[in-house]
Amino acid sequence: MMILLHFEILLLLLGVVFSSNFEAQDDFPFTSVVDILSQNVEFSTFLRAIQRQGYIPYLNELQNYTLFAPVNSAFIEEGVESEIDIQNYLLHNTILPSSDIDDGIHVISENVKFPFILERTEDDLVSINNATIVDPDLSPNFQKAIVHGIAGMLSTPPEVEKFLGQLEKEFNDFHFFNNFIRNMSPLASLVLNRTLLLPSDANFRNFYSDVEINYIIDVFGSLQKLNGKMGHVWYTDRQRFFQNIILEDILGGFIENSTSSQNLNGKVVNFESNQDGSVISANGSISSDLSNMLFSRGIAHAFNNLRIISNVVQFNAEKYLHGLNCTNFVKELYFRNLQHLILDGNLGENLTIFVPTMPADGSDGFSKPNLLYHFAGDEIRLDKEFAVTSSKASKMFESEYCDSNAKLGRNCQRIKITKDKNEYYINEKCKIGHKEPYQVGKTLIYMISENLKLPGDLASSINPFYGCSSSLMFLNQLGLLDLPLNGKGYTILLPCFNSWESLELNLEFFQKNATAINLMMKNMIFDGLIYSDFKDSRFHAKNLLGESITVKAEHGGCDEDDDPSLELSSMKGKIKIERSLDLFFNQGVVHPLKQLNLPESVTISLKDLIRTAGSNNLIGLLEKFEELSSIVNNNEPYSILVPTASSLIGGILNSTKLIDFLKLHVIPGKYTSGLLNCCGNVSTALGDKLTCRRDTQGNQFLKVSDGSQNEVRILKKGCTSFHDDSCVFLIDRPISLQWLNHGKSRLRLPHSPLAIGIVVETVVLIVCLAIFLYRKRRKPAWQLINPSDDADITRPLVEPSVRDAETGAN
Ligand SMILES: *[C@@H]1O[C@H](CO)[C@@H](O)[C@H](O)[C@H]1NC(C)=O
Ligand SMILES: *[C@@H]1O[C@H](CO)[C@@H](O)[C@H](O)[C@H]1NC(C)=O
Ligand SMILES: *[C@@H]1O[C@H](CO)[C@@H](O)[C@H](O)[C@H]1NC(C)=O
Ligand SMILES: *[C@@H]1O[C@H](CO)[C@@H](O)[C@H](O)[C@H]1NC(C)=O
Ligand SMILES: *[C@@H]1O[C@H](CO)[C@@H](O)[C@H](O)[C@H]1NC(C)=O
Ligand SMILES: *[C@@H]1O[C@H](CO)[C@@H](O)[C@H](O)[C@H]1NC(C)=O
Ligand SMILES: *[C@@H]1O[C@H](CO)[C@@H](O)[C@H](O)[C@H]1NC(C)=O
Ligand SMILES: *[C@@H]1O[C@H](CO)[C@@H](O)[C@H](O)[C@H]1NC(C)=O
Ligand SMILES: *[C@@H]1O[C@H](CO)[C@@H](O)[C@H](O)[C@H]1NC(C)=O
Ligand SMILES: *[C@@H]1O[C@H](CO)[C@@H](O)[C@H](O)[C@H]1NC(C)=O
Repeated sequence: MMILLHFEILLLLLGVVFSSNFEAQDDFPFTSVVDILSQNVEFSTFLRAIQRQGYIPYLNELQNYTLFAPVNSAFIEEGVESEIDIQNYLLHNTILPSSDIDDGIHVISENVKFPFILERTEDDLVSINNATIVDPDLSPNFQKAIVHGIAGMLSTPPEVEKFLGQLEKEFNDFHFFNNFIRNMSPLASLVLNRTLLLPSDANFRNFYSDVEINYIIDVFGSLQKLNGKMGHVWYTDRQRFFQNIILEDILGGFIENSTSSQNLNGKVVNFESNQDGSVISANGSISSDLSNMLFSRGIAHAFNNLRIISNVVQFNAEKYLHGLNCTNFVKELYFRNLQHLILDGNLGENLTIFVPTMPADGSDGFSKPNLLYHFAGDEIRLDKEFAVTSSKASKMFESEYCDSNAKLGRNCQRIKITKDKNEYYINEKCKIGHKEPYQVGKTLIYMISENLKLPGDLASSINPFYGCSSSLMFLNQLGLLDLPLNGKGYTILLPCFNSWESLELNLEFFQKNATAINLMMKNMIFDGLIYSDFKDSRFHAKNLLGESITVKAEHGGCDEDDDPSLELSSMKGKIKIERSLDLFFNQGVVHPLKQLNLPESVTISLKDLIRTAGSNNLIGLLEKFEELSSIVNNNEPYSILVPTASSLIGGILNSTKLIDFLKLHVIPGKYTSGLLNCCGNVSTALGDKLTCRRDTQGNQFLKVSDGSQNEVRILKKGCTSFHDDSCVFLIDRPISLQWLNHGKSRLRLPHSPLAIGIVVETVVLIVCLAIFLYRKRRKPAWQLINPSDDADITRPLVEPSVRDAETGAN
């Protein structure tokens, strides 16, 4: 050792003397590899490094090898490495003269610590792992070996994870693959002494959808939380995917003829090289520029279009759900033993799944019926189902929850999808996140905003915004919120949308008459399930009174206004069904109605309504006159304006005018709809016309057309069971005969007090005259309108005593 050291110092001195011009090999008769390193001053740094680490004896003993020795400049560039592993620079069992290195790229993987990539470029430069050979073919004559001086260090390539991480960073690519290997272990041993065919992000996208990629790379990290069969399948898929792109040996660089290798799945992969080994072809797929990359220990070739990554994983709904971050939903299905729905594509049947984007674990979980309610045995393509319909439309589908305890007559509970503008909702609550479903096989998947709730009992299923509270109150009162099991399910026709309130007198009538309300509600509930998408048909059913009824169903036209209708033999009129307002409950379906239909068995007469309005004594007045009494007693098609009882105080004077007064409050049936809708002109039985006005709050007012500005307010309405156009309108005070403007002249009062005094006297005279004329002509000749108080001064003495008739105008 000492000798060697001295020898080295001597050599260094000699090196200075002889410069680098060193052909004097022959001067030393028995040279070894170490001698060569010693004699060449350009290796001095390298020599010092290996001396320090005690490799000299090792190199002296070793036979039959090639040493790549970095020249001094390599150390300057790379910085002085404190530790050198001599194995990084050795090719064992091979003496490789530079003349044996062919054009192109060659990979040496045997007898080396890590693979060597030798490259001879077009300008005849030879490099090993990017270090150019600057001083080739130095052969000792006393040792079977060869030394090549190289211009760079040979450092150990990075571990595979680090290598992939660097690649991701440097090229902003391979994100998917890096994600993929995150939970792949033991990665290093899988790729040891192997070739990795590395798919770029584009490569993934070329063959897999986003959801599929999510599954393959387990982007949500859900796999590790799974155990048992669920986890096993996923784990196996990922393993197979990985093994498919790992070749059993290290292959790269120039390959004279095509060769074949096996991947770790045991499948053949044909391997070829192009362009002198810089481009690799695996089963026909061509590598990208990033080929022949080293890691420790193995080689990687990147691809943008590697076809063998496709068809490795066979997808089904379960895997899609994992890819959609719905692993919790999958767990629930397994827990309820419903995994067959997502495993084998529902046995080739169409299936649509609505999957809630659930909050993390800790959600309440699902019952089995509730889970099944998220599945429909149809192919539901929203764009197809709602292709021709306008901005708002609904359709119903049967869910996979089919009743087994005869609540629904062994039918399947439905779901309703509503399109509103461009959004879609299920059962009017739960929003569908996207229009295009994910499709795997015959299964379609939609993500929805929340869990679908299986319809519960009747009361909880009524949409609170539908204005059904009066009906619910009656149902509750009659104990009908819990219906007995009937083995068929129920269809319930329910007056909603404040149809009770708009006929308040009817509502009050029913509130006071338990018999009538019982008949009413029980007539509207019958056996069997009729949804609003029914076809034209006629069938028998049994209502809740136990009576057999005939139902005639007409589905209406395609026109949206042309709603379907039901005719029940026990009910009056056609019952208009609102298309797709169906409300589902656990025993059937509710149709909220916008109108009030009455059963045949309930009679509501004009007298009933007048009594309900509390103006009983009006009946007596009407009955005084034959023509009017027949209207109330025979329920002829007339409507009656009924002043409140309190406004009819005072004695009703005997008068010929009384009949006029009453006739002014009787409306022939054909004008009733004008009153109900508050539009058009309404003629009274007296012949005078009334005008209806609605204020901003929806209050309705009546006044005499072309007459006084005085108005009466309609307080309540109700209609009889006898005619559609026979109704009672409760008004806050009577319409005065004096408001009629049968004389056309008007007097205007001047404004000065003196003038008014004069005018008042004049008026008194005129009034007397007016009374005279009024009596004589049956109708008042004058009506005086005082612009300041609008009072009727022409009040006849015989007029029924009418409270507020004058003063009320102020
Ligand atoms: C070098 O080693 C290889 C492999 O062991 C052997 O085939 C070859 O014959 C050896 N060469 C010499 C010159 O000993
Ligand atoms: C990898 O290859 C090297 C060189 O051929 C060999 O020495 C080593 O034993 C191999 N490792 C494994 C695990 O096969
Ligand atoms: C050689 O250099 C290129 C370009 O700098 C680099 O991409 C490659 O990884 C290097 N190869 C080795 C074996 O160090
Ligand atoms: C490659 O193929 C050619 C022609 O078939 C043959 O002559 C040659 O020996 C083959 N080379 C190798 C390394 O198999
Ligand atoms: C490569 O191609 C061969 C034949 O074309 C085929 O048998 C083999 O399965 C393919 N390899 C892979 C991994 O798909
Ligand atoms: C699935 O749905 C499509 C389109 O609605 C239909 O044509 C096909 O017959 C259905 N298949 C089954 C098995 O019901
Ligand atoms: C995936 O789902 C889990 C829980 O189910 C949630 O915590 C996580 O934020 C979700 N990840 C993404 C990217 O949506
Ligand atoms: C209650 O209604 C029933 C059925 O319409 C009727 O027969 C009965 O007379 C009504 N009772 C009263 C007090 O109006
Ligand atoms: C009204 O006429 C009836 C009989 O016609 C009579 O009995 C009654 O007293 C009269 N009432 C008044 C207030 O004049
Ligand atoms: C109501 O009657 C008035 C006067 O008779 C007339 O001018 C008006 O056009 C009528 N309106 C309707 C809607 O019939």
